[in-house]
Amino acid sequence: MKIETLRWVDDHLEMIDQRILPAKFEYLSYIDAKSIADGIQSMVVRGAPAIGVAAAYGVALEALVLAKSEGSNFAKDLSIGIERLAQSRPTAVNLFWALERMKKRWADLLSLSNLEIANQLLNEAHRILAEDIQINRTMGAYGAKLLKDGARVLTHCNAGALATAGHGTALGVFRSAVESGKKISVIADETRPFLQGARLTAWEMVQENIPVTLITDNMSGHLMATGQIDVVVVGTDRVAANGDVANKIGTYMVAVLAHRHNIPFYVACPLSTIDMSIATGHDIPIEERDIDEVKGFRDFHWAAEGIKIRNPAFDVTPAELVTGLITERGVVRQPDLHKLKNLFL
Ligand code: MRU
Repeated sequence: MKIETLRWVDDHLEMIDQRILPAKFEYLSYIDAKSIADGIQSMVVRGAPAIGVAAAYGVALEALVLAKSEGSNFAKDLSIGIERLAQSRPTAVNLFWALERMKKRWADLLSLSNLEIANQLLNEAHRILAEDIQINRTMGAYGAKLLKDGARVLTHCNAGALATAGHGTALGVFRSAVESGKKISVIADETRPFLQGARLTAWEMVQENIPVTLITDNMSGHLMATGQIDVVVVGTDRVAANGDVANKIGTYMVAVLAHRHNIPFYVACPLSTIDMSIATGHDIPIEERDIDEVKGFRDFHWAAEGIKIRNPAFDVTPAELVTGLITERGVVRQPDLHKLKNLFL
């Protein structure tokens, strides 16, 4: 089954509602910047590259709406729509990368009519989506070479087709390894509190017939200590210029454990996720999400009412714990400022 996380249908965007997977598989429709910003904020769509693609469509849709509505101030209202999208989530830099790319494209089109600008912005969003899949396939090919036949691979959160326009980053590496004839098996941890591992990664691997075993987050140390994990591959939401990696909360814990047990720890990372404007991971904004996510799941609360709760949604793994970044330009081993700068030459 080919998973189309986002798809353009006639005159609007459709996105798989990831909040209800795997119980239900449903698309929701989006028609402007505000609805897409709400979709990003409420986790209908999530995962750094997918958020970026959704935001690009948000800009294009807003431009189309404004170009067709009399009495709107195209430039002012489009800027407001872009700002609304920028406020939707703070950590994944792909969101800001995509908005910058759309703004740059807009700046190149100023001599055209508003409708022509809007149509060109839509073409740019289509390009961003298509490029994302291509980049994931290229990363997948590089990453697949790192996995030995028979490898047992641990992953955290969901860095799959659902987190991108297709194929996935970390799960793209697994898909490409299987396509190249390797037999691998995946260990997906649950990824408390939002359960992207249990709900999304496990579902994706089942759809692909890639062997997958689900564990709770606190089991990975035991599996590593008893020789049942050969390699870790995860995705990322933002990599700082020195190679520090922000990813779903709990990634740091997995990286420390992998280091303790001499298990390679790879991060699949398109160039759009590297933020050279941020020197180290300390400066990466970490999203704090609703405490209800920790208090229970959906409507069921298992924690005492009134209890103090923290819910940071991401953590930072220092570059020294990263064996390599798998990018579309190849694998950057033991990333540092110099090596990351070279990627952009
Ligand atoms: O909160 P989420 O589900 O958006 O977090 C997603 C992750 O942390 C992924 O690992 C990351 O975005 C990489 S996706 C290719």
